[in-house]
Amino acid sequence: MKGMREFPDRKAKIAKRYDKWSTIYDKFDAKAPLLGRYGAKWRIMAVRELKGCKGTVLDMGCGTGKMLLLMAKECPSATVIGVDISEKMVNIASEKAKKSEYRDRIIVKVMDCTSMDFDDESIDCAFASYTFTSATDPEKIVVELSRVLKRGGRVVILDWGRPICGPMIILYPLLGAIAYLFGYTRISINVKSLFDACEKFRLVKEIRFFGSMGYILVYSKV
Ligand SMILES: C[S@@+](CC[C@H](N)C(=O)[O-])C[C@H]1O[C@@H](n2cnc3c(N)ncnc32)[C@H](O)[C@@H]1O
Repeated sequence: MKGMREFPDRKAKIAKRYDKWSTIYDKFDAKAPLLGRYGAKWRIMAVRELKGCKGTVLDMGCGTGKMLLLMAKECPSATVIGVDISEKMVNIASEKAKKSEYRDRIIVKVMDCTSMDFDDESIDCAFASYTFTSATDPEKIVVELSRVLKRGGRVVILDWGRPICGPMIILYPLLGAIAYLFGYTRISINVKSLFDACEKFRLVKEIRFFGSMGYILVYSKV
């Protein structure tokens, strides 16, 4: 509206940033110093926590679909749904899914995780890798997840955060600045405290790696 000061929409900005990143995201992720070498191992460690999940397994902020195929392999009796706000990331994920042997069990959609197009208690298990620290309203995602997830449903989160001990405490501010520069990723967000504050989730397991800066959290909905 004329005369009104316009504030940039952060969510649209994030979608645009990842639209731009989409063409090189997989190459960067595989080759980035530190990340490339260990990243694949952490992803496998995280997806193993979904083992045995049946029904519908949701990948929130699926990006280029790096986890979708692994999820479909780990959960042979499940349908895997990947959602992301970046249309271009979703397009790449969709192409990968179509070319895979799991094509009949993978669905990919453009969707905002703060307001998902799923019925209450319709999702059996959920997963998110590096999404909570890249989203504008991570606390809203936790609330929305508590709505769509079935009771007893498992949530697996792979992400970065403030190290709790060790030498990474010194490198943390630098790595945080780099992550923000590239993907608006705010590794200072304490994802564990967001889940702990929601009475609907109970922590089942916590795995720390990379000098305690990386973590896998497993929650169950009560
Ligand atoms: C760092 S990337 C991680 C992508 C993927 N999970 C992976 O492990 O490679 C973060 C992703 O979260 C998506 N994202 C951020 N906020 C979101 C939201 N509110 N709803 C859905 N996706 C979101 C971004 O578009 C981006 O693709």
